[in-house]
Amino acid sequence: MATLVRVCGIVGYVGHRPALDVVVNGLKRLEYRGYDSAGVAIGTGEHLAMERKAGRLANLEAQLDAVGRARFAGTSGMGHTRWATHGAPVDRNSHPHSDTAGVIAVVHNGIIENFAELRAELESRGVEMASDTDTETTAHLIALAYTEGETKADLAASVRAVARRLEGAFTLVITHAEVPDLVVAARRSSPLVVGVGAGEHFVASDVAAFIEHTREAVELGQDQVVTITRDGYAVTDFHGEPASAKPFTVSWDLACAEKGGHEYFMLKEIEEQPEALANTMRGHFGNGRVLLDEQRISEQDLRDVDKVYVVACGSAYHSGLVAKYAIEHWCRLPVEVELASEFRYRDPVLDRDTLVVAVSQSGETADTLEAIRHARSQKARVLAVCNTNGAQIPRESDAVLYTHAGPEIGVASTKAFLAQIAANFLVGLALAQARGTKYPDEVAREFAELEAIPDAVRRVLSTVEEMRALGRRLADSKAVLFLGRHVGFPVALEGALKLKELAYMHAEGFAAGELKHGPIALIEDGLPVVVVMPSPKGRATLHGKLLSNISEVQARGARTIVVAEEGDERVRPFADHLIEIPAVATLLQPLVATVPLQVFSAEIARTRGYDVDKPRNLAKSVTVE
Ligand code: F6R
Repeated sequence: MATLVRVCGIVGYVGHRPALDVVVNGLKRLEYRGYDSAGVAIGTGEHLAMERKAGRLANLEAQLDAVGRARFAGTSGMGHTRWATHGAPVDRNSHPHSDTAGVIAVVHNGIIENFAELRAELESRGVEMASDTDTETTAHLIALAYTEGETKADLAASVRAVARRLEGAFTLVITHAEVPDLVVAARRSSPLVVGVGAGEHFVASDVAAFIEHTREAVELGQDQVVTITRDGYAVTDFHGEPASAKPFTVSWDLACAEKGGHEYFMLKEIEEQPEALANTMRGHFGNGRVLLDEQRISEQDLRDVDKVYVVACGSAYHSGLVAKYAIEHWCRLPVEVELASEFRYRDPVLDRDTLVVAVSQSGETADTLEAIRHARSQKARVLAVCNTNGAQIPRESDAVLYTHAGPEIGVASTKAFLAQIAANFLVGLALAQARGTKYPDEVAREFAELEAIPDAVRRVLSTVEEMRALGRRLADSKAVLFLGRHVGFPVALEGALKLKELAYMHAEGFAAGELKHGPIALIEDGLPVVVVMPSPKGRATLHGKLLSNISEVQARGARTIVVAEEGDERVRPFADHLIEIPAVATLLQPLVATVPLQVFSAEIARTRGYDVDKPRNLAKSVTVE
């Protein structure tokens, strides 16, 4: 039997509004977390009205219309949107799950590792399962706890009793037909926040689900249970002892979670990159010094660092590759950039003088989380670079530097990626400052160059129409190659990743010098090759070498799309299509060079008729290894 593992969006509500509307609207804002199936359960006062459907949320909405939304009248309820990693995303495996009597509904984000054992126990008691999921076991267990022993008729106590028995990572939201004015949620690992409104309360995996109703939120800690009613919320640990959770006010508003006139979130997020960068750098320089956020690593510890590992996945990993060039150059420290999923399965050499920089937009990525757990177990210091306040990765790190890119809803990373590069640079400058490998005036100069980048990105954005047109023209290509050198190499990797995930097109990024060692065999007549050129002034030698690389592919029939610095006259004869970007400091070039590549991929995907925000098979937060 398949175990269903999920990375999902969950929302619960008790208040005075029609719960179905609140829950469905909340799910719309969480759909980026998964879109394989969706479901709702609404307490009508008499029973639980439930509906669930495989596929996008739109399928569920059509189903709700078909059965009649009037059946879902009630002011409390919950919903779920799911991303399956294995196990078919079919109706019967969709959430909510219920007990045999249909009085309890449960939605779940995570995986219950001891579910086989729990299932066997339930089956031995004669309980019949209606799905293949681990979640369903919790519905039956809570139902049993609610009808017997000390936890009888106490939903929160029943949930706590069951939560204590569960192994693995989970966030559960539970409601019972008999107590419709109460929603209970339990959290271990997977995120959960409470929304505090006037006469209404929410629980959700992300504040985006309730931001249109309230910006007051409470972040639950590990192994906590929260009960929400119309009038309040209460937090305990899994044993019923009162526990404290962290209140915060969401700094962004509804407009940030909406498309603002754009066809897709991703297109809006590409446009937001100058602000994302400016916000990420704001407040990080004062009295002639670079300042980090929550700095629980002392200045002395920073001085003692003798090796840096950057661990991350996907685009975040590419941001780390860029950082390597800067940190090695500025700090004279060896930097390894590691795929988080590989890190702990090798035997990396770590000790208390190792700084591990964990880069993650969501702060939830399981691979990265496990990598930092391993690093900390080996006494290394961990600094998180994260875009999500209070997420698990920063919580488990020694220090955190937040990227302030705002919510990124499009599944493919754009503004968060640029913000990660900028934040990594801040880490590099802070290290250089602590270690004295750069004088204060040099640090100040580097920071000033970084501060000028948002304007440069604005200029790039004002000229991307040509790249868009090219995207439309090349939308039928079978494959595209991306070449770069030095910091242009990670840009090439990122360009290829964007094209793969958005346009489902075969794309590869290469260090251009490697071409002759194999990949050049791929070049054939008409193959589009995107080349990220280094500055002819800042990197004259490499510039010349890349011109030779372009000649090699041109000679074999490639069609070259060259991203080059304004005023780079030497490159013109080598470019079938020339895309100009502003001249910036060498190490900062990825912040401008990536932008046309994002636009290119998005346009190809749109032309091919794909959903740019929700590429197939992907989800925004990957909380399973
Ligand atoms: C690509 C993309 C992914 C993420 C990766 C890490 O566009 O978005 O490759 O970069 O899954 O996610 P975070 O940064 O949330 O750890």
